[in-house]
Amino acid sequence: MVRETVLTPDSFIYPLFVHAGAEAVEIASMPGVRRLPVAGLVAECEAAWAVGIPAVAIFPAIAPELKDARGTHGLDVRNVLFAAVREVKTAIPGLTIVTDVALDPYTSHGHDGVLSADEKEVVNDETVEILCELAVKEAEAGADIVAPSDMMDGRVGAIRAALDAAGFENTIILSYAAKYASAYYGPFRDAVGSKIGKDAISKATYQMDPANAMEAVREIALDEAEGADMVMVKPAGAYLDVIRTVREVTDLPLAAYQVSGEYSQIHAGARLGWLDYERTRDESLLAIKRAGADMILTYFAREVAEKLARA
Ligand code: PBG
Repeated sequence: MVRETVLTPDSFIYPLFVHAGAEAVEIASMPGVRRLPVAGLVAECEAAWAVGIPAVAIFPAIAPELKDARGTHGLDVRNVLFAAVREVKTAIPGLTIVTDVALDPYTSHGHDGVLSADEKEVVNDETVEILCELAVKEAEAGADIVAPSDMMDGRVGAIRAALDAAGFENTIILSYAAKYASAYYGPFRDAVGSKIGKDAISKATYQMDPANAMEAVREIALDEAEGADMVMVKPAGAYLDVIRTVREVTDLPLAAYQVSGEYSQIHAGARLGWLDYERTRDESLLAIKRAGADMILTYFAREVAEKLARA
């Protein structure tokens, strides 16, 4: 009766990986998470939908030979992401599909945009133009929510205009508004194969400094002014203060992404016998919700929703 925060499946967005291969492939640094073939992805979505999860976020793992410096394959209508979105939408029309708007799955260098000639920076405006095309193609394939995760400046407004011009006025923009240059993305980059070379520039040239909280407030305000329908803080667990601060300055729906490293460290601790797996998992999610997130992107979504369904 006096409990302030409860976990419910309807606040989960379930991130999933798809690839063009025929078999599911384990991701060593993310126990229990696999790159799924399209048919396996549809089955996973059906299982998630059956336990009350309203939304999935689909990430493609692209074969290295299809990648280039400009991420051209991202705009190829025959790529595995668009196929996956079409199949899931057809199989489960009620399930909300979120797709990332960023080039990192498709670029040979792993950056979220195109690089300048000296490869010292990601070129903002040229990248935004490509992202607009990507967002429209994702909407055409059936994505309900496009989620720019690239952290270029001005992309939310440009994507909104591009979607509207293409007749997708109702496609929602979930902006990765406050996305930090975080070490916790490591296992995800294994999952999609987007590791940055050790001599290359870092994503800190466009993602946020973990030292900054007020900058998150500015980022949220900018994206809100540009037309974001929902905003996100990422990662979640190490940024609970940022979630709380953002909660107090926006009345948009607020998502938080419990990223790959947050998931993997709980598994690692449990494997070593140092942490109680279920209790740590549930506490980590409760904390994110208590901080003020309406929605949580989490790799734990299906198993926790199944546990809640049994309770
Ligand atoms: C890239 C993107 C990343 C994640 C989601 N979209 C990684 C990155 O910025 O390198 C990370 C998610 C996770 O770690 O679970 N656009």
